[in-house]
Amino acid sequence: MEVVIVPEARAIGGLAADAVEALLARRPDAVLGLATGSSPLVVYAELIRRCRAGDLSFARARGFLLDEYVGLPAEHPQRYRSVIRRELEDQVDFAPDAIVGPDGLADDPVAVCAAYERSITDAGGVDLQLLGLGTDGHLAFNEPGSSLNSRTRIKTLTQRTRSDNERFFDPPEQVPRHVLTQGLGTILDARHLVLVATGPAKARAVQALVEGPLSAFCPASVLQLHPHATVLLEDGSASELQLGDYYRETYAGKPRWQGL
Ligand code: GLP
Repeated sequence: MEVVIVPEARAIGGLAADAVEALLARRPDAVLGLATGSSPLVVYAELIRRCRAGDLSFARARGFLLDEYVGLPAEHPQRYRSVIRRELEDQVDFAPDAIVGPDGLADDPVAVCAAYERSITDAGGVDLQLLGLGTDGHLAFNEPGSSLNSRTRIKTLTQRTRSDNERFFDPPEQVPRHVLTQGLGTILDARHLVLVATGPAKARAVQALVEGPLSAFCPASVLQLHPHATVLLEDGSASELQLGDYYRETYAGKPRWQGL
């Protein structure tokens, strides 16, 4: 796992966008794993800027969402499919239908989750998966206790996650209880994991993910098993790390041509 700590969140957008740009240059039909939540927004803002400047193109790329709320009506603005359309897709040059997510309105969630797994496999797997981090250490919507080798399935949100996400809903109690989410095993299958965590509210979860034991109690600790995982932090989210100085020194001495 590579831990990169920068002074402020905006720089994270540039670093993650560099990795996406390098991937698309190498493989224009790359498969991207897209995350929602506020953390990836700095990345999307930079990708939109570069796409408009002609530095990169998503025209042949595809995208898979990590997760989705169950039961939110198709027109609901907080449906993750709508969020990603608004925050990224409509502002860049993805082909129509190039981005898909698990269908939270399906009558048969078990069948839909199995089909979603197959569609990721049929696409050749995810090349680069963007990730955020819940304050309780959740990854996508894999809450504490999630099997470390889980696949896409229905999950129940903790009260803490529902409270964290209330800020997006009006009235706040509208936050759904159930979600469909890629499993931790599904996420581990992606070839490069890039997790973004910003702000001091994430500092404890970051410490558990990077330096704690591998444990279903902190689902994001599963990144410790991945051969190519990058954790992008700023000073606030990195503030509880015991080896923060070591990670800073290591990254400062890294040849830039290596990328992430
Ligand atoms: C939600 C999403 C996660 C995201 C988390 C953190 O629960 N399902 O994918 O990582 O929120 O969100 P934020 O980045 O807004 O703190």
